[in-house]
Amino acid sequence: MTQKYRNIRPVEKSQWPQLYIETYGCQMNINDSEVVLAVMQDSGYSLCHTIDLADVILINTCSIRDNAEQRVLGRLDLFRQQKKKKPSLKVGVLGCMAGRLKEELLNHPAVDLVVGPDAYRQLPKLLGMASQGNKPIDIGLNPKETYADLSPVRLDPNGVSAFVSIMRGCNNACAYCVVPFVRGRERSRDPQTIEREVREVVANGYKEVTLLGQNVDSYLWSNPQNPTDCLNFSQLLEIVALVDPTLRVRFVTSHPKDMGKGVLYTMAMYPNICNHIHLPVQSGSNQILHKMNRRYTREEYLEHIVSIRQILPDCAVSSDFIAGFCDETDQDHADTLSLMNQVQFDQAFMFQYSERSGTKAANMYHDNVAENIKTQRLNEIIALQNKHALASNQRDTGKTFEVLVEGVSKRSNLEYYGRTPQNKVCVFPKATCTIGAYVQVKILRCTSATLLGVIT
Ligand code: SAH
Ligand code: SF4
Ligand code: F3S
Repeated sequence: MTQKYRNIRPVEKSQWPQLYIETYGCQMNINDSEVVLAVMQDSGYSLCHTIDLADVILINTCSIRDNAEQRVLGRLDLFRQQKKKKPSLKVGVLGCMAGRLKEELLNHPAVDLVVGPDAYRQLPKLLGMASQGNKPIDIGLNPKETYADLSPVRLDPNGVSAFVSIMRGCNNACAYCVVPFVRGRERSRDPQTIEREVREVVANGYKEVTLLGQNVDSYLWSNPQNPTDCLNFSQLLEIVALVDPTLRVRFVTSHPKDMGKGVLYTMAMYPNICNHIHLPVQSGSNQILHKMNRRYTREEYLEHIVSIRQILPDCAVSSDFIAGFCDETDQDHADTLSLMNQVQFDQAFMFQYSERSGTKAANMYHDNVAENIKTQRLNEIIALQNKHALASNQRDTGKTFEVLVEGVSKRSNLEYYGRTPQNKVCVFPKATCTIGAYVQVKILRCTSATLLGVIT
């Protein structure tokens, strides 16, 4: 809270208006909610954990697929019921749906304000307008906004692992994707402010940071005083790795069209950069990759895998897949399965294609793979991936990994969970260690999703 504010409203924290935040979508959205909380706390709001206590509900939304939006619309119906119980309650829709659906959202009876991803500094002012009975909207995209000066207030209660956004927006034009429309042009954040935030995170006891961007490999900062003085992603990664050798460093997402070997060499040089790369391929068919406008071929993708395995032999690789994109044939789908067999991904996120209005695919192609075929292909991708994940985990049994203890296992409060550097979840009996500690865990058994072991 700022000194200025304290002079205006000298109230006890317990009397501050209560704010409830709900977040959907990717890690960038989680981190954005942390930025929102920083802005709101500065204006005298206090976080609460149930909607019954809330004076204000902010729902930070995702538009990536139709089902993500449907979930949010379902929640808005529930918030409407809550407003009947508490008429002074204000509900704001933030994030990517705000950017996509704009004024249309204000027609929903639960919604009092709509705020896009680049307008979060305006939230207190807009809430003030809403409390006067207005229905404000600010969905302007600001190609300079990186919230660089703010210190996000961490929402994850574990106190171990923090997200740090290094850039916003996206300049790619993947034909299926809504992100460039709702998040705007790509902009990189000043590296000094990134380093400052990482140091703060370390000072607050965190043991792991994940650097976030839609395409971290295109991170590029040029000094405004001297534009030839530039810093790229592998240089930034090095700066962050050097902050503290006991801080684990992760990053997402890498893009196959931009990832260079420099990043792999930096990873090899610093043991605290975790050996895991999320490198979404989307499809194994060159026709489909071309149609998706991903701007790499299957062969180029496989060359990255060869480089990763040469330079970082114990690095895990994960991917995203889209099943049933426009015009995808049985042969294209078979190409995806064959690429999976070639790479043997350790983990993957797999989706059925969902047409998003306004995208190149919606405007120019036909969403012509029948729903049942999409589902069938997705199920085949999931079944194959489960097989590969299980084989990958079985290769780890008998080995010992350094695991960062993140919390108590959901299955049993006698066990902790954490992740290996390769980003695999590992569950083990508590013994004498504490949350936030590094422990050596010997893997005894596994499922396709989890490694099970004991501290050695
Ligand atoms: N910037 C990241 C991905 C962000 S979106 C990248 O380029 O890899 C996360 C994932 O959602 C994408 O990798 C893709 O697999 C999936 N996705 C995006 N748009 C989609 C759509 N219209 N239908 C289905 N899946 C989609
Ligand atoms: Fe979407 Fe492509 Fe940008 Fe990823 S790189 S956010 S898939 S447009
Ligand atoms: Fe993320 Fe969903 Fe937006 S994936 S960038 S919250 S559309």
